[in-house]
Amino acid sequence: MHIIHVTAEMAPIAKVGGLGDVVTGLARASLSRGHTVDIVLPFYECIQKQQINDLALISTYDSYHDGNWIPTNAYRGVVSGIPVIFIEPSNEFFKGQQVYGGSYNELEAYLFFSRACLEWMQVTDTQPDIIHVHEWQIGALPLLYWDMYQYLSLKKPRIVLTIHNMEHYGECRQEQLSKCGLDGSMYATAEKAVDDRTIGHNPERLSLLKGGIVYSNAVVTVSPTYLKETLCSGWLASTLMMHCDKYFGVLNGIDTAMWNPATDVFLPAKFHAQKIEGKKLCKYYIQRGLGLAAKSITSSNHVPDATVKIPLVVCITRLVPQKGLHLITHALKHVEELGGQMIVLGKAPDGRVEGEFKHLADLHNQGPSIRILLMYSEELSHMLYAAADMVLVPSMYEPCGLSQIIGMRYGSVPIVRKTGGLADTVFDMDDQSNPEIANGFVFEGIDEGSLNWALDRAFSYYRDKPDEWNGIVKKVIEIDNSWNNTAGKYIELYNSVRGRS
Ligand code: GLC
Repeated sequence: MHIIHVTAEMAPIAKVGGLGDVVTGLARASLSRGHTVDIVLPFYECIQKQQINDLALISTYDSYHDGNWIPTNAYRGVVSGIPVIFIEPSNEFFKGQQVYGGSYNELEAYLFFSRACLEWMQVTDTQPDIIHVHEWQIGALPLLYWDMYQYLSLKKPRIVLTIHNMEHYGECRQEQLSKCGLDGSMYATAEKAVDDRTIGHNPERLSLLKGGIVYSNAVVTVSPTYLKETLCSGWLASTLMMHCDKYFGVLNGIDTAMWNPATDVFLPAKFHAQKIEGKKLCKYYIQRGLGLAAKSITSSNHVPDATVKIPLVVCITRLVPQKGLHLITHALKHVEELGGQMIVLGKAPDGRVEGEFKHLADLHNQGPSIRILLMYSEELSHMLYAAADMVLVPSMYEPCGLSQIIGMRYGSVPIVRKTGGLADTVFDMDDQSNPEIANGFVFEGIDEGSLNWALDRAFSYYRDKPDEWNGIVKKVIEIDNSWNNTAGKYIELYNSVRGRS
């Protein structure tokens, strides 16, 4: 089967969050199952070309935007073994030093990109079986396909949309939608809209994501629990309910070639479930490197007692409200009270939040137990997952969440709020109903007390029941949350939409 992913992100060359990881991981797993896979990505100016192998210009064509035909280049290259098509318009779109937030109009750039992808398929007579689009950015592609391209030469494809986060719905005015050649006013009326009147709740506020939901052959979200949550609340709930026969929850996997503590080049010592000692060295290395208290006496294997005795909690996340900012800041305080150590790694896109965390960093970063690192670092994130005893994910909502899955792979026990994909991957140690799947600590409330309850229990297991703790560490490393395990669900879905007319 030929699958083309159309996406705004791809790890590692254009990654902002989990979307980039998922696209790369799923593409690699589908390739290894013998399918033909391409990823189509905007050629962001910030992409480092040395990370692309065999980069070559493959076509030059004109792509429509707002009454003009924009000369556009398509390149082919290989990134981490995956074929990628880069679309490069000659206008200002996708220029700048980062993936998002350039000085061009982002929404219009992705409308352009959605159409330019179909145009590239048409001029090169590329006929994939599946066009797999991701997030609101590519939400207009299914509309464009059914409105224009299926009558041209693109006959075969079925379109699958994956929604990674329902909060971002691509709000769009009807005249903006018209810029990619669709009749925006039609989509603001009942005639074209197929479901509850429009693809927006008001002609000035259409939603590209809603358009994608209505016009795709299948819609996927990234965990079964998030699927249920989104059918019950949020302004897209009624749309999703109306399309529930084609709406599926498929839990994300992780790329276990990229995330493997037994081979990870970023780790000072490697380890796996049967040979766990290296994990302690990783912890000691981080504690020493960041100046956290790890002094103290001796120990036969050169790892100081403090490393063994003081639990280390890490939280690796974008610092946005979704992630439970008040609980993260509270955890810093509570972990310190409990005599543990905590490291937060992440960027805050919002200046006010950044200021708050900078202030906390100034207060704590010279002390013995807390480090707040306001940056994005792939390398450090690998080292922290390996060093941690516990990985904290206190999100207010979480479609899937990759941090708890990666943490487990590196032997860090998850402490999570029971929501979305967190509820599908972490099961409480003290829940007697299903002890064989218990693998972490779970709390439900959004208040500090609920979090304390989970942290207190995790700390007391760590300190008072070391044998049980070591057992959980081994168990979480061995859980298979890889794409190898879950990509099959997407392949089944692709096959089922191909079978439907
Ligand atoms: C988004 C979601 C996150 C999910 C990721 C990949 O970033 O917020 O929960 O894991 O996409 O699907």
